[in-house]
Amino acid sequence: MRILVTGGAGFIGSHVAENFSQQGHQVVILDNLSTGRRENIPDGVEFVEGDITDKALVDKLFTEHAFEVVNHHAAQMDIRHSVEDPAFDAQVNIIGIITLLQAAARVGTKKFMFASTGGAIYGEQDYFPADENHPTNPISPYGISKLAGEKYLYYYHVQHGIKIVVMRYANVYGPRQNPFGEAGVLAIFSHLLVQGKQVTINGDGLQTRDYIYIGDVVQANALALDWPGSITFNVGTGKETNVITLYKYLAEAAETDLAPLHGPAKPGEQQRSVISHELATKTLSWKPEMALQEGIALTYRSFVAK
Ligand SMILES: NC(=O)c1ccc[n+]([C@@H]2O[C@H](COP(=O)([O-])OP(=O)(O)OC[C@H]3O[C@@H](n4cnc5c(N)ncnc54)[C@H](O)[C@@H]3O)[C@@H](O)[C@H]2O)c1
Repeated sequence: MRILVTGGAGFIGSHVAENFSQQGHQVVILDNLSTGRRENIPDGVEFVEGDITDKALVDKLFTEHAFEVVNHHAAQMDIRHSVEDPAFDAQVNIIGIITLLQAAARVGTKKFMFASTGGAIYGEQDYFPADENHPTNPISPYGISKLAGEKYLYYYHVQHGIKIVVMRYANVYGPRQNPFGEAGVLAIFSHLLVQGKQVTINGDGLQTRDYIYIGDVVQANALALDWPGSITFNVGTGKETNVITLYKYLAEAAETDLAPLHGPAKPGEQQRSVISHELATKTLSWKPEMALQEGIALTYRSFVAK
């Protein structure tokens, strides 16, 4: 199939593009390299440097390639930046997806896959783990723009018959994650430990997240690519881990006894987040395979090898 992977120079998109290409698909990556890196781009994949909000460029690409599938990973994904500049967040995450969807509808793209969030979209949870029917009450412009993206997808599905796949990711971790962003605690901590530096945990470190390994996320994308219908599903482990425990596993992998420092808690930070993968298991036969300690060790080793 002819597949456009947006954000394919980034962490998750590059792994997904690599897998699709290895399966024999014809993959084109569109990425503006704002947080992505050229060295992440897999061999044998065509790379176009540009912005998803550049309508002329997007239209030209779709006309040239008549993509059958769009796998949309490009985004403004810094929650704090979305708070400081909600208009920029909306420009990339809402205008960006509309630009792609308009072009997709025009050339008859069959399927649109979207990397949404299973953290920010639910907000503070009413129950744990959250399933896909949990109320969506995002408490950041980023969560709101991802939710808006889902709603636009649904509209194009109804109006234009495009099949839609919404993947609500938990906290994804693994090799190639950018350690210089605001999110991606394992990448940030691994990068510091490799340099022998102490890490700083925000607040008491008892805030929890659901950590899902990149290999499992790639597998979810691969299964959803072949899934004939439309679906919105969580991609998480259903297990909650706090930052103290996470650091303990990482310190074991790094064989260090450096103690973490504690900084002030981040105002407005979600306290607990964990999502159920029951729907994906039932429909796509997907389940997370990687044990957290093993995934952390693999991630740490990838930062050592750099
Ligand atoms: N990493 C996670 O834990 C996580 C969790 C939930 C959802 N997601 C979603 O998954 C997707 C990928 O995240 P990631 O962790 O790989 O981040 P990333 O920053 O590594 O990848 C994003 C990519 O998009 C590109 N990009 C950004 N704005 C663009 C624009 N306007 N035009 C073209 N390219 C642009 C960046 O250069 C980068 O290569 C995002 O949509 C994110 O919201 C990630």
